[in-house]
Amino acid sequence: MTRIAVLVSGGGTNLAAIIAAVKDGTITNTEIAVVISNNKNAYALTRAEEAGVEALCISPKDYGTRDEFNRELVAALESRNIDLVVLAGYLVIIHEIMVQKFSGRIMNIHPSLIPSFCGTGYYGLKVHEAALKRGVKVSGATVHFVDEGTDTGPIILQKAVYIEDGDTPEILQRRIMEQAEWKILPEAINLYANGRLKVKDGIVRIMEV
Ligand code: GRF
Repeated sequence: MTRIAVLVSGGGTNLAAIIAAVKDGTITNTEIAVVISNNKNAYALTRAEEAGVEALCISPKDYGTRDEFNRELVAALESRNIDLVVLAGYLVIIHEIMVQKFSGRIMNIHPSLIPSFCGTGYYGLKVHEAALKRGVKVSGATVHFVDEGTDTGPIILQKAVYIEDGDTPEILQRRIMEQAEWKILPEAINLYANGRLKVKDGIVRIMEV
């Protein structure tokens, strides 16, 4: 049984998709052990509690130094024997100590087709504003392993979503969530939980069952 921690900062619609996928069997061999947010007001924490999942707020604001915060976050994960950390709209930079301790065991969902519109400063609506400003015809979402960089780790899954006439950043964000994020993040977790992801030279291969 793969024990996962889901790290969140906002509304938690990706968390909701993961909870639903575990419940309906889209994700197997997996237990959501804890949901952790840096934001005590994140509705994602409410979603976790309503689903009977432990919900924690571990915020940098509550610690004297960033180093203390990072140590507390890592300790919370290790003490719960977490196998996989899933970043689902988590807006705090992951410190290298955590990347090292959970090497190859941290996944992130990004709302674009990496390497487009990613990296420092590209998060939330900013991603979709940039895509619309550039005039791309296709955007989408990416699930990738987290390494020391920002949105630079090995790509696990991607799903394309077409831009439509009249799209605003908000409309595009919602469509990419509905058509891409909420599908590929649960799928990536399921692949990991069932030992079907192999990384070699920075390339992720999906192994047949
Ligand atoms: C999603 O758009 C995700 O791609 C991005 O942050 C947003 C989180 O939304 N990383 P939610 O909290 O899962 O609703």
